[in-house]
Amino acid sequence: MTNKLRAAIIGLGVGKAHAKGYLSSPDAELVALCDANEERLLQSAADWKVEGKYTDFQTMLTEAKPDIVSVCLPNALHAPATIAALQAGAHVVCEKPMAVSVEESRQMVAAAEQANRHLMMSYNYRYRPDSQWMCRVAQSGRLGTIYHVNIHWRRETGIPGWGLFGSKAASGGGALIDLGVHVIDLGLWMMGFPAVQSISASTRTLFGPEGRKTWGRKPGQAIEGGFDVDDGGMAFLRTASGMTMFLQVTWAEHTTPQEDSFGVELHGTEGTAALHVRHYGKDDTLRLYTEIEGEAVTVIPSVRFDGTQGHEAMIHSLLGQIQRGETPSSTGIQGLTTVQVLEALYRSAAEGREVKL
Ligand SMILES: NC(=O)c1ccc[n+]([C@@H]2O[C@H](COP(=O)([O-])OP(=O)(O)OC[C@H]3O[C@@H](n4cnc5c(N)ncnc54)[C@H](O)[C@@H]3O)[C@@H](O)[C@H]2O)c1
Repeated sequence: MTNKLRAAIIGLGVGKAHAKGYLSSPDAELVALCDANEERLLQSAADWKVEGKYTDFQTMLTEAKPDIVSVCLPNALHAPATIAALQAGAHVVCEKPMAVSVEESRQMVAAAEQANRHLMMSYNYRYRPDSQWMCRVAQSGRLGTIYHVNIHWRRETGIPGWGLFGSKAASGGGALIDLGVHVIDLGLWMMGFPAVQSISASTRTLFGPEGRKTWGRKPGQAIEGGFDVDDGGMAFLRTASGMTMFLQVTWAEHTTPQEDSFGVELHGTEGTAALHVRHYGKDDTLRLYTEIEGEAVTVIPSVRFDGTQGHEAMIHSLLGQIQRGETPSSTGIQGLTTVQVLEALYRSAAEGREVKL
């Protein structure tokens, strides 16, 4: 029997979802929490009966000496907190996006190598049974040659009205870095991370500055701290093998009220597999379009959602891989790849031209 890993969480917004994974895992014990917001910190510590309570992450790392740390801070703090945790000897699960720049992401990968610790990314949507089915189908060869991938995340009124999501300095970007990162990762992961060669993108900032289409805000009630990021955009990518990808992401647009959906379509010479998830639902999310005996057919796969999913399943999976001495399946290198795509995408949009990677 291996020893339980002593886990800690920095940032208790989405960090609560990480906690669920640590608290229900036989491989870990949640020993410390950190949040600058003392009320949030004390409430979470009381709810989960966690002894270690800190408002400063460096103090927590020094005193609690965790084996594994979830970094769930605003984007611009991912790099400093992750590097500090790695240097303190902990493995890290870092929330997405990995960092706000390629430069910082590289420093994080280097810190993990130097410390000989695992740096893992929090890509929770990989841990849906329907996403996993798509990944298996993509890798099985059943779709023939996959020549195009369509990815999207579209919301009608979905600009986050809390935290620092509207601040470029704190978050590095808007809808594309917040939602785009998930679907870019899903598309690249399903395709086995093909080398992206070029990107042509455009972004827009139309609703956020006026407080329109923002969660928890009345029209005209602007977000504290301002809004200087994209609230939507699109991109066209080419890979070295000639495959193309099209990405469409919106935090806000005029469409079906309350729409919030993401999806991936894998178009192959022998079939198309499609994942369309509305409102984070689990029913009727998959289609396979193919031909049987010369006729076009639609297959409706039904996958079971009976185990743990999302962040909880992700934490269980990563802990299990570490305990078994395996390389974790979600790596810092993959996080860096997605940040490279995002940085090139923003550069392409700013310069109004195609960018080579
Ligand atoms: N994987 C997902 O589906 C998902 C969902 C939501 C958020 N996220 C990511 O998680 C991160 C946090 O987002 P959130 O929605 O939880 O934001 P949030 O604002 O709700 O929570 C962030 C927490 O960090 C704390 N904090 C800020 N600076 C700190 C510091 N220096 N030291 C200690 N605590 C500090 C804040 O007090 C706050 O409680 C972001 O990177 C976001 O992109 C991922």
